[in-house]
Amino acid sequence: SQSLADGPDPFELVSAELAGLSDGIKSLIGTEHAVLNAAAKYFFELDGGKKIRPTMVILMSQACNSNSQQVRPDVQPGTELVNPLQLRLAEITEMIHAASLFHDDVIDEADTRRGVPSVNKVFGNKLAILAGDFLLARSSMSLARLRSLESVELMSAAIEHLVKGEVLQMRPTEDGGGAFEYYVRKNYYKTGSLMANSCKASAVLGQHDLEVQEVAFEYGKRVGLAFQLVDDILDFEGNTFTLGKPALNDLRQGLATAPVLLAAEQQPGLAKLISRKFRGPGDVDEALELVHRSDGIARAKEVAVVQAEKAMSAILTLHDSPAQNALVQLAHKIVNRNH
Ligand code: FPP
Ligand code: MG
Ligand code: MG
Repeated sequence: SQSLADGPDPFELVSAELAGLSDGIKSLIGTEHAVLNAAAKYFFELDGGKKIRPTMVILMSQACNSNSQQVRPDVQPGTELVNPLQLRLAEITEMIHAASLFHDDVIDEADTRRGVPSVNKVFGNKLAILAGDFLLARSSMSLARLRSLESVELMSAAIEHLVKGEVLQMRPTEDGGGAFEYYVRKNYYKTGSLMANSCKASAVLGQHDLEVQEVAFEYGKRVGLAFQLVDDILDFEGNTFTLGKPALNDLRQGLATAPVLLAAEQQPGLAKLISRKFRGPGDVDEALELVHRSDGIARAKEVAVVQAEKAMSAILTLHDSPAQNALVQLAHKIVNRNH
């Protein structure tokens, strides 16, 4: 591929927009309730997040807007690269994501997030849940103010899918055929859908036609699937220092992700460990050993690369623009990240 590593940095391209994003969110979550205020703001004040979702939404907006300008210069002569509705959508997407993390850390009993104590650790479980609900409520208000029923529908589907993904993950992993497909479906709901639907909503808010909306959706979905695969691989390869959260979390929680599921095809001994959710004495160590004795991690990486390539193919069907190039870079960076 054409010297991917040398391309423009996607986060730099939108740094001006991202700088305004945190302030926008902080003003959206202002409330007279001091504790709620503190819990919601705590998370955004630290600002240690990667901001992948808002970066994607802003770049997608720019890429689609630029595409339309090139297709119909007569209709859209001076359209801004990203319109104010699309910028709001980037904030809304990050708020929904943050809300899901507040709840996730309660469910997972996580003490750290992004290298610092999690909201539940600092404020307790009850406030973490309520602060997550509060963020969702404020993001819904902001979404309603965009006056786009279609965007409301798309983002509501994404919220429903976050919940559905989490519930699918709680269900015991089906053994035998279908376990990997089940895992991929769960990943779509848990991670792919918010990226897919927010990208599509950015195309809707730019008033682009259905074909462009579908390109945006496909890009977000594929990047989301690649992102979650890499997340699950990093759980095996990383450590608390690189990840900002403990490694091997998934195995300890009983979750069989891509590296284990693919390893099980070569190491039949894994099946019984998976079905008892690695709960027997020494199960986690034994599973780890078996994964490393297989190609599970390498094969999971290959699946992630294929997803990222599908994202790139989708976005490359639009007319060339710096934002399009940056979205190719973003997909590339996501599969090659180490945190
Ligand atoms: C992180 O996964 C969690 C998610 C991507 C989604 C969590 C969704 C819910 C808890 C449902 C509630 C949703 C809303 C909108 C309030 P992870 O635990 O695998 O990753 P981690 O290592 O970053 O914690
Ligand atoms: Mg978690
Ligand atoms: Mg979780």
